[in-house]
Amino acid sequence: MLSLEPFQQQAQAALPPEAWAYLQDTAGRGLTAQANRAAFDAIRLVPRVLADMRQASTAVNLFGQSLEHPLLLAPIAYQRLFHADGEQGSAAAADAQGGTMLVSSLASQSLESIAAASERPLWFQLYWQGSRERTLRLLKRAEAAGYAVMLVTVDAPVKQAVCTLPPHIWAVNCEQPLQANPVTIGESAVFQGWMSQAPTWQDMLWLRAQTQHPLLIKGILHPEDAEQAMGMGFDGIIVSNHGGRVLDSVTSSLDALTQVLAQVQGRVPVLFDSGIRSGLDAYKALSLGAAAVCIGRPYVYGLAANGALGVAQVIRLMRDELEMTMALMGQSLTFKA
Ligand code: FNR
Repeated sequence: MLSLEPFQQQAQAALPPEAWAYLQDTAGRGLTAQANRAAFDAIRLVPRVLADMRQASTAVNLFGQSLEHPLLLAPIAYQRLFHADGEQGSAAAADAQGGTMLVSSLASQSLESIAAASERPLWFQLYWQGSRERTLRLLKRAEAAGYAVMLVTVDAPVKQAVCTLPPHIWAVNCEQPLQANPVTIGESAVFQGWMSQAPTWQDMLWLRAQTQHPLLIKGILHPEDAEQAMGMGFDGIIVSNHGGRVLDSVTSSLDALTQVLAQVQGRVPVLFDSGIRSGLDAYKALSLGAAAVCIGRPYVYGLAANGALGVAQVIRLMRDELEMTMALMGQSLTFKA
């Protein structure tokens, strides 16, 4: 298959309507997701001809890990909703394709079994678990399972499933679903209810001190938040608006990337996600200065269409597109972090 579209069509045909709706979901009217796409489409390239590309490569070194390419699998919850292979299938595919996967706190298979599906150490995505004690237990479990790089997602302060999960699929690595604090009359269900469980910068400072592993922060859009995270010792920033799933009318992730890169000035690697649908899109983010990119929904189309093999096919497709774009641009990006 020479484009993502057939995977998307097959995924839609294969999935129950609720699972498809969950995968495609966007916040509100979808304005953030539209902005993500529009920002990519607005970039025009000026190719340079006759460049010698014989030594070009997509290889990248990230936090001590050598990868064949900078196309990482974004953390996506509950992957057994999409195929019986689940997270294990995605992890095996990422590994087989010379890359890696960011495994969600809300994975539907055990962290240990997912780690075992990949020879290369995977990365672990932490969601705040409502308290420091619970959060630390999950972090330490991921460390013990061999995850090499940790990242904490901060753009969805309190996370709960937006779809009704079938009984055999749940966040098996979390101790119990978070409940909002009960509120009394006059209190806000948002501020005193849900947000009483949400982390703050103080918790991030605490978290930084809890692990020797590289620690990244995912969901940064404002340059001053990037500055704050660097000041606290985070090792990398992931610019992301969660694929437009959290708040509507948010700036496109690509515009935020430019702003954050200008602030960071190369002090830490800046990774990117939200809206990438091809290797050409990946090229655009990488040429702006992203150290690597994460793909979200596209690999889940592959998973739903064809299990682990489908994920591998989507990664390979996007890598081929990236290589072709580099060749036609005469541009050998130096991927380093
Ligand atoms: C997500 N995303 C996400 N992010 C995260 O940090 N932890 C998670 O558990 C999830 N779960 C999740 C489920 C589903 C179904 C989707 C589509 C997304 C966000 C994800 O990591 C990434 O930021 C976006 O998917 C990137 O946007 P694109 O590539 O899907 O446009």
